[in-house]
Amino acid sequence: MRSVYSLRGFNIRLALSIFFVCALALTIAGCARKEPEQPKEEAPKAPAPYVMSFPLGLAAESVVVPPDNPMTEEKIKLGKRLFFEKKLSTDQSISCASCHIPEHGFSDSRQFSAGVGGKTGTRQSPAAINRVFSAAQFWDGRAKSLEEQALGPVQNPLEMAMPSMDVVVERLTSDPSYSSDFKAAFPPDGAITPGNLAKAIASFERTIVSGKSPFDRFTAGDKTAMSEAAQRGMKIFRDEKKGNCETCHASFNFTDENYNNIGVGMAAKKPDLGRYEVTKLEGHQGAFKTPTLREVANTAPYMHDGSEKTLEEVVAFYNKGGYRNKWLSPKIKPLKLTKQEQQDLVEFLKALSGEVTWYGK
Ligand code: HEC
Ligand code: HEC
Repeated sequence: MRSVYSLRGFNIRLALSIFFVCALALTIAGCARKEPEQPKEEAPKAPAPYVMSFPLGLAAESVVVPPDNPMTEEKIKLGKRLFFEKKLSTDQSISCASCHIPEHGFSDSRQFSAGVGGKTGTRQSPAAINRVFSAAQFWDGRAKSLEEQALGPVQNPLEMAMPSMDVVVERLTSDPSYSSDFKAAFPPDGAITPGNLAKAIASFERTIVSGKSPFDRFTAGDKTAMSEAAQRGMKIFRDEKKGNCETCHASFNFTDENYNNIGVGMAAKKPDLGRYEVTKLEGHQGAFKTPTLREVANTAPYMHDGSEKTLEEVVAFYNKGGYRNKWLSPKIKPLKLTKQEQQDLVEFLKALSGEVTWYGK
């Protein structure tokens, strides 16, 4: 019995050691085998959070980024590709950049941009810069975010004229290079959906900024950055009893993010009622979003209808007290500025153009 037991004991020890050695060998082999077994596509690396950096003069704490669309390099790269993508228009002739031209402060030098087939609308293309600092988009603020805004032009018959977003999705899906870009931007499935398209475009748009203008450098202490005329113009711009411009073109981005009627287009028989079409509030008749004045020397013509061709014309318009109408903002009054003061104001406006940068530039 004893010998049998000891024999059995020996066997058990031997069996156990063999088991452990095998187990160890298998684990090592298993580990070694696992590495090449994981193809890269199945385990995409998490998209890299994008750290925004801003040129001098812009308030980084004022950015508006929705919590469900954090900025990542991959989304921005895809959004940039889409912003310049003509496939987003029916006849593949128009991209976002056709009307938001980088050299013109992401605006258009035409009074009304031409969409597919040369069709035109009734509003001027706004400078799509520093949009990261605003929630509401369009002259009347009808889009509550850049995400909401981005799909508008694609289906607008006067702009990119796509019959439906399904066609857009189909077109992008048939291009394998887009599948990989969407996968990188929206892991793991990389769904090519209108929602993801909008998120990517919005992320890219948030990188388009203008700062470091002569005004910013002057404000930061470089007293030679602005001419004396521009410095006089700045005082007029700020002085309540002179230009009184800052009351609306407020803060670092020169806008109160609000809607005001200054009388533009109100002489027309059927004027564009602007914000009123969105809210139906009486006080909003003929009110439009106060635009940023950054880069303004490069974004002519001016106003929601492109009716003013030069900065001199804009200042002359304000000097007359805008255009009188029932809903004119009480902040708009005849200014009685001398010719010299008007020219100084123009010089100040010119000092608001600085460096326009965007992702990859
Ligand atoms: C055919 C010309 C045209 C095309 C193409 C076009 N836009 Fe625009 N964009 C405009 C006009 C005109 C407005 C002003 C419309 C309004 O306010 O009602 C505008 C407004 C905007 C605004 C609002 C800016 C602000 O200050 O409120 C953004 C942002 C914008 N477009 C981005 C885009 C993107 C992104 C695309 C491509 C998906 C695009 N646009 C395609 C002409 C165009
Ligand atoms: C009551 C608010 C208000 C005041 C005061 C005001 N603005 Fe404006 N500004 C606006 C609004 C709103 C628009 C757009 C109006 C439209 O298109 O209908 C605008 C448009 C402009 C534009 C055209 C920008 C573009 O991209 O088309 C310039 C330039 C400008 N203002 C400069 C000035 C100057 C200079 C003064 C002072 C003399 C001034 N503003 C005073 C609200 C104001």
